[in-house]
Formats: sequence, structure tokens, C-alpha cells
Amino acid sequence: MTSPLLPAPPSPVLVVGAGFLGSRVAAAIPGEVIATTRSGTWRGGQPPENVRLRALDILQHSDAQVNAALEGARAIVVCFAAGRTQPREALYIDGAQRLLDACADRAPALARVVYTSSTSALPDHDGWLDDDCEAWPDSARGRVQRAGEQRVRERCEALGLPWIILRLGGLYGPGRGIGRIYRSRGQHEGALEGDGMQATNLIHVRDATRCVLAALRLDPARCGVINVCADDHRARRDMYQRAAELTGAPSPRWAEEPTPGRGVYGKRVRNARMKDWLGLELEFAQHDVATA
Ligand SMILES: NC(=O)c1ccc[n+]([C@@H]2O[C@H](COP(=O)([O-])OP(=O)(O)OC[C@H]3O[C@@H](n4cnc5c(N)ncnc54)[C@H](OP(=O)(O)O)[C@@H]3O)[C@@H](O)[C@H]2O)c1
Repeated sequence: MTSPLLPAPPSPVLVVGAGFLGSRVAAAIPGEVIATTRSGTWRGGQPPENVRLRALDILQHSDAQVNAALEGARAIVVCFAAGRTQPREALYIDGAQRLLDACADRAPALARVVYTSSTSALPDHDGWLDDDCEAWPDSARGRVQRAGEQRVRERCEALGLPWIILRLGGLYGPGRGIGRIYRSRGQHEGALEGDGMQATNLIHVRDATRCVLAALRLDPARCGVINVCADDHRARRDMYQRAAELTGAPSPRWAEEPTPGRGVYGKRVRNARMKDWLGLELEFAQHDVATA
């Protein structure tokens, strides 16, 4: 059930991982923000005026450095991502635990933890999947993501910290266009795997940012997992084709032809709670392939 959002998040909010999503979140929060990157620098130059930067590497820094990064925070948004160079398990499970352990002494001052996860924490099921889906994925990647969520939830509950886990679909937007997804999967080197009829679960970075902001304003009594995903679940095949047309790239080739009459299949992530709890009206309900 919808409950009114509080007028504003408590200040300052600490944004851990000011990357593609976190930097936009930090810039959009009304009021004072402390944002961290591993290097303590802002991508693309100077941070916005409301943002103070700190360095934090949750896998490499000492306890004293972690504590210094958290100093003064009244709410925490976690947007760190392992990328290609860090072990996923270490960051998403041990890193999350370390961050929350460092919150133990300051828990009464913290109004909320918003942790960004991924729809890969959901199983690869052919059909709709809800926010409270209890089944775990089979893939090692997805299981790490799910275990990270579980660790966040357990640690927050042990510390009495209000928590929200935002399970994000694939992020796209300026600088990360949809067209790059298939190009990065080697389209020019041969046919893409399968028939391309799997459903897509994506979210534009602007809508994801608005979800984080709304989650920070939730009543502290409200905790849970919220799937963050657009309404559009069109097949990858259609999406890549459209992106190719818009960018003048060659049409994607697929290893297999679609099975006649089968249509779109695979995981479709339901976003009912995103609309209900966060009151979100999607700006990009349909994939904006034009940002490719
Ligand atoms: N990208 C997607 O398609 C996608 C899909 C679903 C969910 N998500 C989730 O969305 C969130 C944000 O993703 P993103 O694409 O914005 O990530 P991103 O652009 O790669 O940014 C990650 C941020 O985390 C920081 N970071 C990396 N390792 C760290 C560490 N060991 N300790 C502390 N900070 C660290 C990075 O610091 P530096 O700037 O110094 O490198 C960077 O600021 C993540 O939770 C991710 O799992 C992403």
C-alpha cells in the first residue's frame, strides 16, 4: 500500500560509489551529500556544489579510513559495483558486511540504508517475478548478488537500521546506450547466441535515480525489496534491431530463428511495488532506444 513519502531525506546523505548511477543520485539529492569513489575524484571534473567527495575503497582501505568516510552520514545509499577487475563475492558480500559493520556505532544517527542490487538476484524463470520472489537464481553471478542482498538485510535488521534493496534491471542512459549492449557482445564478429526472443528487463538511469531518491524518503517503518524495471519487456531481438537502425549499424544476426508462435519468453520482472511504495511514474516506461 502506498504511504506518503517524507518531505526530504535526512542530510547529509552518504552515496557510496558515485559512478554511472551514484553520481547522478548524489547530484539529484536536494541538500548536502557526501559521495565516495575509490579514488576520491569525481568522474568528469568537479562535483556539483552540494557534494563533498571522499575516498573509500571498501576492499582495500583500513578501518580508520572506512570510518572517516562514514563520518557525519545520516543516511546511506550504496551504489558500488565490482566492474571487471574486482571479485564480485568480495565486494557484494564481504564489502557490504564491512560497510554495515562500520555503521554499528552510528546506527541511531542513520535514518535509512538504500542498497542497489540487480535483477540478476532473481532466478532465470520463464514468466513474471515479484519483489518477494523466494527462489534463488542458479547462476553463480546471480547467487552472489542474492547473497549480498541477504547479508545487507541481516546486518541492517541486527542493527535496527531501516533498509531498502532496489533490484535494478540493466541500466542504460546517456553514455551507456542500449546499442552498446549488443555491440559489446561481439555482434560484428558473428551471430548472437540463441534466437533473441528473451524478454528484456531494463531501467533508464534517470528513472533509477528517481527511485533511489524516493526510497530515501520512505517512512522508516517500511523495509523491503523493490524491483526497479521499466514496463517494456520487448525481446532483445527487437531492441537490438531498432538500435542498429538508429545508429546505422548492421542488423544483428542471431544463431537461431524464433520458434513460430512462441513469442517473447524468459524472466519478466514485475515493477508493481516500485509504483506502489515509491509512487514512481516512469519517465522511460518504454526503452528509449534512441539513447543508443
Ligand atoms: N550497470 C548495470 O547495468 C546494472 C544493472 C543492475 C544493477 N546495477 C547496480 O547498480 C549499482 C550502480 O552501478 P553502476 O553501473 O553505476 O556502477 P559503476 O558506474 O561501475 O560505478 C561503481 C562505483 O563504485 C565504486 N567502487 C568500485 N569498487 C569499489 C570498492 N571496492 N569500494 C568502494 N567503492 C567502489 C566506483 O569507484 P571509482 O569511481 O573510483 O571506480 C564507482 O564510483 C550497482 O549496485 C550495480 O550492481 C547495475
